[in-house]
Amino acid sequence: MKIIMLGAPGAGKGTQAKKIAAKYDIPHISTGDIFRANIKNGTELGKKAKTYMDQGLLVPDELVVDLVVDRVNQDDCEKGYVLDGFPRTIPQAESLDAALAKLGQKMDYAIDVDVPDQVIVNRMGGRRACVGCGATYHLVYAPVKNEGICDTCGKELILRDDDKPETVQKRLNVYHEQTQPLIDYYTKAGILKTIDGTVDMNDVFKAIVDILGE
Ligand code: AP5
Ligand code: MG
Repeated sequence: MKIIMLGAPGAGKGTQAKKIAAKYDIPHISTGDIFRANIKNGTELGKKAKTYMDQGLLVPDELVVDLVVDRVNQDDCEKGYVLDGFPRTIPQAESLDAALAKLGQKMDYAIDVDVPDQVIVNRMGGRRACVGCGATYHLVYAPVKNEGICDTCGKELILRDDDKPETVQKRLNVYHEQTQPLIDYYTKAGILKTIDGTVDMNDVFKAIVDILGE
């Protein structure tokens, strides 16, 4: 089962992708997480990506596409995978389709987690991310047991640099300009499923399971 998670920044792609990966036992591939891990480790890729990410801009397609194509060709992806944050532009989607076509494969579902901009702006200020393992929480909607400390690994929680209000607005603008056209692209491909992302996260997941099957 090969799944793409679409949706604005903060729509809940990562939250749902983790649940999908656990239930269907397939890898969760988040380009944002891959870049953040590279930034943390001080790699060349991380240095390049950071200059774009901190401004709320997309990392250039050429830095993203090969990385994902290599990843989905690894052995653990044989049963499928869930892509979170990729593709994010029409050229990325076309490159992915071309790479899969060479293997005689295609994507099965593109799930659009639909959330209006105003709800997103309210959500992002409350998100907290772990500096250690990258787990994501929310002050109100997904609180930790001990304030400021990750439930999973015990490290500190921070507000992501790109979750500052002015950068969130920029990311939303970039989303509408460059990523939203993918909704048409996957509608035409016949694999788009739209779900309401404003309801409780467990109900969002139920809607996804209704689509993917038990
Ligand atoms: P990335 O990490 O992908 O960020 P994003 O798309 O902006 O998405 P987020 O991770 O911010 O949100 P999400 O949809 O995963 O929401 P979450 O589940 O955390 O990318 C970061 C940057 O990397 C990009 O800006 C770009 O620069 C670069 N990049 C990455 N991929 C790229 C690509 N392919 N091409 C070019 N550049 C790329 O949820 C958000 C919050 O809401 C959390 O606190 C959560 O707990 C809470 N929440 C979730 N669901 C609900 C709910 N139903 N109700 C209430 N709260 C909820
Ligand atoms: Mg995410």
